[in-house]
Amino acid sequence: MFLWAGIWLYFGVFAGAQHRANPSTNSNDGVELSFKKVPPDVCGDASSYAGYVKLPPNSMKDTAHDYPINTFFWYFEAQNDPRNSPLVIWMNGGPGASSLLGLFTENGPCNITRDLIPQRNDWSWNKDYNILYVDQPVQTGFSYDVLTNGLLDLETGNIYPASPDDPGSSTLIPGIFGSQEVQSTANTTETAAKHFWNFLQQWTGKFTQYDTSDHAISIWTESYGGRYGPSFAAYIQEQNSRIRSGSLDDAKVINLTALGIINGCVDLLTQETSDPEFAYDKNSYTAMDAYSQQGGCRDQILDCHRRAKAQDPSMYGDDAEVNKACEEASSFCENEVEGPYQYSKQWAFYDIAHCYLDAFPGNEFLDYLANEDVRNKLGVPVNYTELSNTVGKAFNLTGDYARRDPSGYLENIATLLDSGVQVAMVHGDRDFACNWIGGERVSLNIDYKQSEAFKHAGYADVTIDGSSPVGQVRQHNLFSFTRVYQSGHMVPAYRPDVAYSIFHRTMQLKDVATGNVTITEEYSTTGSPNSTTTLKAPHVPSVTCYLRGMASTCAQNQIEAIKEGSASIENGVIVSPTPSPNPCPDLPYLLGEVQGNFEGENQVVFDAREEL
Ligand SMILES: *[C@@H]1O[C@H](CO)[C@@H](O)[C@H](O)[C@H]1NC(C)=O
Ligand SMILES: *[C@@H]1O[C@H](CO)[C@@H](O)[C@H](O)[C@H]1NC(C)=O
Ligand SMILES: *[C@@H]1O[C@H](CO)[C@@H](O)[C@H](O)[C@H]1NC(C)=O
Ligand SMILES: *[C@@H]1O[C@H](CO)[C@@H](O)[C@H](O)[C@H]1NC(C)=O
Ligand SMILES: *[C@@H]1O[C@H](CO)[C@@H](O)[C@H](O)[C@H]1NC(C)=O
Ligand SMILES: *[C@@H]1O[C@H](CO)[C@@H](O)[C@H](O)[C@H]1NC(C)=O
Ligand SMILES: *[C@@H]1O[C@H](CO)[C@@H](O)[C@H](O)[C@H]1NC(C)=O
Repeated sequence: MFLWAGIWLYFGVFAGAQHRANPSTNSNDGVELSFKKVPPDVCGDASSYAGYVKLPPNSMKDTAHDYPINTFFWYFEAQNDPRNSPLVIWMNGGPGASSLLGLFTENGPCNITRDLIPQRNDWSWNKDYNILYVDQPVQTGFSYDVLTNGLLDLETGNIYPASPDDPGSSTLIPGIFGSQEVQSTANTTETAAKHFWNFLQQWTGKFTQYDTSDHAISIWTESYGGRYGPSFAAYIQEQNSRIRSGSLDDAKVINLTALGIINGCVDLLTQETSDPEFAYDKNSYTAMDAYSQQGGCRDQILDCHRRAKAQDPSMYGDDAEVNKACEEASSFCENEVEGPYQYSKQWAFYDIAHCYLDAFPGNEFLDYLANEDVRNKLGVPVNYTELSNTVGKAFNLTGDYARRDPSGYLENIATLLDSGVQVAMVHGDRDFACNWIGGERVSLNIDYKQSEAFKHAGYADVTIDGSSPVGQVRQHNLFSFTRVYQSGHMVPAYRPDVAYSIFHRTMQLKDVATGNVTITEEYSTTGSPNSTTTLKAPHVPSVTCYLRGMASTCAQNQIEAIKEGSASIENGVIVSPTPSPNPCPDLPYLLGEVQGNFEGENQVVFDAREEL
């Protein structure tokens, strides 16, 4: 175990004396904000601050919680003109995924090299924007409820509370974590929205280093963020109306101007059939049948929605019957409709051109964040949880995956658009998890004032400074849907320059296609109604086995060696044994051109792999 007292001392001297945001004057509600300035050698040159908004039990507005909530944030000032830059909030999905995944592998100021050294990222989103990374809901990333000694199981990601003297084993690593109680975190998207709004109220009010003349705030998110984003944004708007009408005191209007969703899973009912359609092959027949058969996935989702509407309309997750129906629907759909692709193909969930042993994006940042010196510089009293199974389980227990928030996520997006908030949907086209076919379907089903004009806009090529097309976009006024070519799930990791351009153009109110046209009420793309480009799959990267990502990156013989203690490991990567021959199944050769309609025959879209 590491020296606990040392951390507190460091934190005490520096954070307490110099950087603590005066908790005594700001904590009459018991809420504290503590942070420290992060030395620039940790990640990027711009000023950055890491810390916590600390909410004691039952200190939030409009939601009860009998456990403390310490929400970790890391704020990076813009590289250019931070005093006049708007704020962008980045959140990864999960549920339970830390936003530092995005920071270090997608859009943050640095990434981590194989030697575990931070390297400047040329495509960092903080060039012209102040960026706030938030680990939510609590027990995700560096956020915690109650400090608890435990063991992290590298094989499953589970964390088991344990005695501080337990030395663990080659795959059970001791550390300090949150309580791992499923009752001590948000267990639905709607509750997470309330927690997030409370965090944001405290952060914008108490974090005095957030000092800008431009109070616009936008949210960019990914994956399960397809639910978080619309729901959190809609909740902010609802609270704004309550504040304006005088029914909510002691709170501030948040000026939300844009929502960006990258490879979002927004709505299960709308997107679910796109999975077998996208991964089209013989096995999709059973998957489609599992969807549409009587009592199948669709019927179960509808049953979940019906019960939820009647018995838990506010999405508290506390009605056993609703939870059961929705949990069963989630499991059934995951196993019977999405599952066949994974079981039969064994291609990667996040990139159909990778093997299921998927070492991209790299896991170097996990070793970096386990380093005591780095943790001291961030002032975090806990070990890092990349993906919290406790949070995942809490959401599973309410069947959140199959549910909708009280208004519905598509309706949330419609309301945002109708109130002048920009919405950008961006989908890498090699992702299976929240594939672009389902994303496109969501975009075409948003029922808002300009939906007809949006539907009639055609796909235009996206180019960067006159490049050949890097994707295609359908855009009308404030709403865009972009298919990004040759990208898996985490678009800013696979195509950093493309993601940066889409982000930047959206934020600057320019057209996504060229970045040269200022968006007006009348702006519409023109082109074909369907994006039909077919692309060749890239080379399959070799297997890289990361100790801290062993379940998804290591071949079986390597996993055995790690468990036996016979593997040799350098900077977190297993260098011996090398993977057994051919651990990967065949991968597709052609990508794209997915058929919109299922016709019950075997229309093979992905040819057998040929030599590239
Ligand atoms: C890190 O960022 C640099 C500069 O943008 C880039 O060249 C490099 O490929 C990135 N490394 C990884 C692992 O993404
Ligand atoms: C919100 O921010 C935008 C962009 O900076 C600005 O144009 C608008 O006036 C702001 N709205 C309010 C109510 O402050
Ligand atoms: C979900 O959280 C609520 C409190 O917000 C709690 O009342 C409920 O029991 C939880 N549901 C489950 C299934 O644990
Ligand atoms: C949540 O449920 C799904 C479907 O049953 C399952 O695959 C997944 O492992 C569960 N997640 C956790 C963290 O328990
Ligand atoms: C927790 O952090 C300490 C020191 O930073 C490290 O030695 C330990 O391995 C970490 N544990 C885990 C599970 O990452
Ligand atoms: C947009 O303008 C830039 C600079 O003027 C130019 O290089 C580029 O070709 C233009 N792009 C398109 C697609 O018109
Ligand atoms: C093309 O797009 C339209 C909607 O824009 C859709 O109705 C139609 O089914 C699509 N056609 C194919 C072959 O996917």
